[in-house]
Amino acid sequence: MDLVVSILYALIFLLTIISINLFRRSPHKNLPPGPRPWPLLGNLPAIFTSKTPAHLTFANLARTHGGLMLLWFGHKPVVFVSNKAAATEVLKTHDRALSGRHIPASFHFPEKPQTSLVWSDCDAYWKQVRRVLRTEVFSPTMLRAQEGVREEKVRELVEFVRSKEGEAVTIRPVVFGTILNVLGNAVFSRDLYDLGGRGDVVGLELLIRELLVIGATPDLADYYKILDGLKKEALVRLDKVDKLWEPIVEERKRERKLNDNNVAECMDMLDVLLDNNYNDAEINNIFLNMIVDACNVQETFGPGSESSSATAEWVMSELIKNPTVLARLRQELDNEFGHSKVTGSHRLAKLPYLSAVIKEAMRLHPAIPFMLPHKAVETCQVLGYTIPKGFQVQLNAYAIGRDPEAWPEPNTFRPERFLESDIDYQGNHFELVPFGAGRRICPGLPLAMKNTPLIVSTLVHEFDWSLSDGTPPEKLEMNEQLSIALTKDPPLCLIPKVRVIS
Ligand code: HEM
Repeated sequence: MDLVVSILYALIFLLTIISINLFRRSPHKNLPPGPRPWPLLGNLPAIFTSKTPAHLTFANLARTHGGLMLLWFGHKPVVFVSNKAAATEVLKTHDRALSGRHIPASFHFPEKPQTSLVWSDCDAYWKQVRRVLRTEVFSPTMLRAQEGVREEKVRELVEFVRSKEGEAVTIRPVVFGTILNVLGNAVFSRDLYDLGGRGDVVGLELLIRELLVIGATPDLADYYKILDGLKKEALVRLDKVDKLWEPIVEERKRERKLNDNNVAECMDMLDVLLDNNYNDAEINNIFLNMIVDACNVQETFGPGSESSSATAEWVMSELIKNPTVLARLRQELDNEFGHSKVTGSHRLAKLPYLSAVIKEAMRLHPAIPFMLPHKAVETCQVLGYTIPKGFQVQLNAYAIGRDPEAWPEPNTFRPERFLESDIDYQGNHFELVPFGAGRRICPGLPLAMKNTPLIVSTLVHEFDWSLSDGTPPEKLEMNEQLSIALTKDPPLCLIPKVRVIS
């Protein structure tokens, strides 16, 4: 026994010496500033012992060390970008050099052909898929063609909420189901969720949730290369998700063959991909990126239904907490739609206060506070510091949206600030980046920005809302939780009353 203990001590001593030397002999000079790392563990102790959620921990560290800050996760260096000045350099000046993708260990499958849009560098395949998304799947023509389906799915949400009049409704899951159906219809003309009670109709939700948990679990293999990590867990579930699409894709191929490949005018994404000769593996992966990855988690998953439903929940929470803002928005909607239901994205796009409310909620509560992890594909100089090739670069949209240099009264919800400025989230203003910017900007932005205003304005126009526990609206707590996306904790739970539109 004594011998085992002695060997253990010797091993720990040896590893400590090796790691001290590793850090000392770091070949890179002039790295961004950051807290001093521990041998072997880097800055992990400070991160794991912090009592605040990760987005706040890193935002607080950045306040001391600067908008460009280096942290060590074990032996892995991660550069954090936390203010407008650093974001402009990273997403604009050095966009090409810093738009690689760092792949977390649990989603790194060298044995599988790389056909993921989310988890690839900006290579030829990535460019080709992004082009198809921009020019076909999320083109203005396609989005216009799918407007009827989007509005139909939102009517189903209204019917569901009406059926719950006087009862408590938790907002995020019902919006999640609605968005999942909007996505399912945009991708392959299918509903994926039954708001009426059956819930998940194809068995996708459980798999998404399990993948999200894997994505949200800190994977030591990320920090220490010798460990195997969670990737087997992820692989099993990803294979199951592939199997879910298979019959849908096969059926569509059969239908198209019968029609001699003459597809109806209003196509969905599956038709676009088949027209562009994508193979089954590529189609599976693109679906995965749009629907499953599109459900987002922390730094591991991308965008979509979870981020859209989290965004809608934050907008509704801020409206409930700020009754004068709610009243002003209602007036704007009443002026535009009167006694009618909310329809027509072109009409919504004309409403300045609605747009200001959504921007302000996304500034304060970006659904994906840590954008998907970027990677330096070549060494570059940013704000006088070196970011060496291969380093992970992590943008903190939460800290950027509350940068006091860029935003007066950064923590106050005041949509009026956007009525006085032309700042938007399309990737040209680096103080507001809830969708990212530059090459990696969210390709689903055009769809997300049709869904969120439609859902929020419908809920505001057609219902009065009160808090389910009787709390006065102004007292609503706005605590944040970073689990899957940045969500409200506890979730927003409201009692709807059908509104007599005046
Ligand atoms: C409010 C809703 C949404 C928000 C806040 C959001 C935000 C983001 C962010 C921050 C990124 C990472 C950007 C970067 O790496 O620098 C991203 C990437 C991405 N988003 Fe969105 N997103 C939303 C909705 C959607 C939707 C609806 C879809 C598709 C149906 C989508 C598809 C994607 C994809 C595929 C990527 C990866 C792009 C790439 O790596 O090149 N997102 N999104």
